[in-house]
Amino acid sequence: MAVIAVVGGQWGDEGKGKIIDLLAEKAKIVVRFSGGDNAGHTVINPYGEFRLHLVPSGIFYPQVTCIIGNGVAINPAVLLEEIDDLQSHGVGISRLFISDRAHLIMPYHILLDRLEEERRSKGALGTTLRGIGPVFADKVARVGIRTGDLLDRDIFLSRLKSALELKNIILTKVYQAPLLRLEEIYQQYCHYGERLMPFIRETSSIIREAATRGETVLLEGAQGALLDPDFGTYPYVTSSSPLAGASCIGAGLGPRGIDRVLGIFKAYNTRVGAGPMPTELKTKIGNLIREKAREYGATTGRPRRCGWFDAVAGRFSVQINGLSDIALTHLDIYDGFPSVKICTAYRFKGEALTSFPSDAVVLEKCQPVYEELEGWQESISGIRNFRKLPAQAHKYLSRLEDLLSCPISLVSTGPDRRQIIERNPKSEV
Ligand code: IMP
Repeated sequence: MAVIAVVGGQWGDEGKGKIIDLLAEKAKIVVRFSGGDNAGHTVINPYGEFRLHLVPSGIFYPQVTCIIGNGVAINPAVLLEEIDDLQSHGVGISRLFISDRAHLIMPYHILLDRLEEERRSKGALGTTLRGIGPVFADKVARVGIRTGDLLDRDIFLSRLKSALELKNIILTKVYQAPLLRLEEIYQQYCHYGERLMPFIRETSSIIREAATRGETVLLEGAQGALLDPDFGTYPYVTSSSPLAGASCIGAGLGPRGIDRVLGIFKAYNTRVGAGPMPTELKTKIGNLIREKAREYGATTGRPRRCGWFDAVAGRFSVQINGLSDIALTHLDIYDGFPSVKICTAYRFKGEALTSFPSDAVVLEKCQPVYEELEGWQESISGIRNFRKLPAQAHKYLSRLEDLLSCPISLVSTGPDRRQIIERNPKSEV
């Protein structure tokens, strides 16, 4: 029984949905703590295949209370669509709660995200165009609108009026875009509010009380460490923190309340959108990984950039998250590879770098230094026992553990719930 933060260790899309789905079986509460519908968690289970953007991946278990925490930005249209889809597949949503402190994505956020990407042109960040940058900018600028505001139409109207006044000046004068109409947005969001009202409440107390009772609480991250606005490849980052530290703030817990921090990594690296990625493979191998693993964005459908595992970035991620252990996903993608490589250092201006640079311009110029390991030829996708993995896979995992200084406790060998190896690294030594 513990509070466990589950976070992405790379540039997102590491397979957090599957791992949360697995761990949620023994949990009482699952909380999404950051991001918005830029995230897309794929879950395959007996109900079917789902791409969850906002609802926590624990929703499929009847004993789990799911919370969309205060740290999440919510597009109500997307959330309602997700709720309807879950209900139509027979998944109960009566245990879903939405923090009244979570910020709302408004139509102008989505519009401004697109207009700003167009303005940046060649320098575009490659955002998901979901309004994420603008909504979190408004949050810290103290002009945001929160889900709780929907509970009182007068408060909502006055906040919307004041926000829209400024947004319309920016839209028309800076971007030469048409005005947005107050009445239209007001009516639309009042309708969303009516539907979402039963779910909206103060949620941090539910989480703290469950933690005090010793129940298992999962804090579900979105995106990955390398997209963090402070520690990621700035400015090619997202706008809320995907790090374990943010799970406290995004849920309403103190840092001492977290017992375990589980980092999710893929056996290789992927990235969507712009920004440096030293191990990117613009070769047949990169394409092979992409096609074998269906590496296309769950939210935008964009092809993901694929490459070898970057242990320099990985080690940094272990450190800034304070990871206790790692779940390594997609190991089966390497089945049949004659060899696999791991980036153990970068070469920059003739020197070897073993730490992750803070400047994206430096990272852009870094050349990966690889270690090559023998691959395995058999399929590992049915294996449930760690000892039954081929010797080459053992070597790969143990080399990653050495390089990252962190134990691997879970290995995923396929998309299905059952394709997982649970392991206690200490019992094997
Ligand atoms: P934004 O979060 O939509 O503003 O996008 C900023 C950057 O983060 C872009 O490079 C996106 O592709 C990336 N990004 C945002 N969410 C995800 C995700 O869930 N998985 C992978 N990349 C993401």
